[in-house]
Amino acid sequence: MKPSVAVVVLAAGASTRMKSALPKVLHPLAGWPMLRHVLESVMRLKPARIVGVIAEDAKEVAAAFAPHVTVVQHQPLGTGDAAKAALGSLKGHDGPVLVVYGDTPLITAATLRKLVEACHRDKAAVGVLGFKARDPSPYGRLVVRNGVLEKIVESKDADASEKKVDFCNSGVMCLQGTLAASLLGAIGNGNAKGEFYLTDTVAISRAAGHRAIAVEGDEAEFLGVNSRAELAIAERALQRRLRAAAMTAGVTMIDPETVWLSADTRLSADVTIEPNVRFGLSVTIESNAEIKAFCDIAGVRIGRGARVGPFARIRPGSDVAENVHIGNFVELKATKMRRGAKANHLAYLGDSDIGAASNIGAGTIAVNYDGYGKHRTVIGEEAFIGSNSSLVAPVRVGKGANVAAGSVITEDVPPNALALGRAKQVTKKGRAEPLRAKLKARAAEAKRTRK
Ligand code: UD1
Ligand code: MG
Repeated sequence: MKPSVAVVVLAAGASTRMKSALPKVLHPLAGWPMLRHVLESVMRLKPARIVGVIAEDAKEVAAAFAPHVTVVQHQPLGTGDAAKAALGSLKGHDGPVLVVYGDTPLITAATLRKLVEACHRDKAAVGVLGFKARDPSPYGRLVVRNGVLEKIVESKDADASEKKVDFCNSGVMCLQGTLAASLLGAIGNGNAKGEFYLTDTVAISRAAGHRAIAVEGDEAEFLGVNSRAELAIAERALQRRLRAAAMTAGVTMIDPETVWLSADTRLSADVTIEPNVRFGLSVTIESNAEIKAFCDIAGVRIGRGARVGPFARIRPGSDVAENVHIGNFVELKATKMRRGAKANHLAYLGDSDIGAASNIGAGTIAVNYDGYGKHRTVIGEEAFIGSNSSLVAPVRVGKGANVAAGSVITEDVPPNALALGRAKQVTKKGRAEPLRAKLKARAAEAKRTRK
């Protein structure tokens, strides 16, 4: 049986290039903190334990690692020093130790597994994920001779021939657990940067007669995020991946490049997404639902056959049931639209529960906020809310009730009642012509006195 892996996630390095009060690994990508993407990939290996290495006073980062343990690297003395800081938390573990970076969010579980399995198969003391870099200059180079990984040379320490090598170190390494303490303990800092390099474990293990191997992966997975520009590049790459997965699962996207997903967006087969739609966190869309162009949708389940948009905004805490229609310029916030209910144009429905098959007219507002507290609007089944009505919450409109257009409803409306909450119309016969004459004369007089 293959021994289970322990994972060390390095997240203690300086991140000044982000120019941010937020620690680098907590910057969001597809709605999740960068670190969470790394942890999700790592978790798929079902590791025996995960140890986060964080900087001093990085409480938010420690919280993002929870329930996994974190250890503090007191000074950023290099990747080797950071990995060594985790040793105390690896006591009793003799399976492989996988070291990954917290700022390399595109790494997949499949690639990590490939490395761990190759190390197991080849009985390697050290394994490295390498890649052919378009621009090798920022990376450590993998020096392979006669098919054997001999050492890793950092750019700053490389000689002219080593600089020509384009097979680069991704940073992901796998150490044999029983050797981890001795390999890490033997790292020195006599190099161009005066740092303890994790990469030195390759030459150290070779000198001790052990085997070191390199496994090739795809450069796209090893993108490290050090700046806002790199964050945007990672976001774009992740979006491509999420869209491709959705389409493979049967989702139609008319212009995929304009659809922005969250890492947890769940779209069923035969959902159609029109151009320019953004999904925030916690969205589930069931089959045959259609999201028309220019919608912003978060925190909602949208049921089978529902139609949303164009230009709709759905905010968290909402539930849109089967065959509901939400039309243009309709905003929902923490609102339940039950089966077949419709709000086709220009409405704000906040903290509301809209009964099945009810019709919400254009311009309806659920007046849910009095400046201090939020209040609920509850509408029964098959109710009809006439256009341009304000429903001043807390308020209830019963099943089958009809609210006349232009009403301001401040009292509950019982089932099947007709409620009119507006001034009574006054009609004065033949009065339009004298009014026109009066207004015309007034305008002429104003023009004369201006001259
Ligand atoms: C490292 C590798 C290099 C590789 C490159 C891939 C070494 C010596 N070099 O270089 O071969 O090609 O990554 O991107 O390992 N960290 C700590 N504590 C420290 C230093 C770093 O936690 O004291 C963490 C950082 O937060 C980061 C990671 O380790 O997540 C890598 O550190 P970084 O300084 O970016 O290493 P590079 O010089 O890029
Ligand atoms: Mg780096």
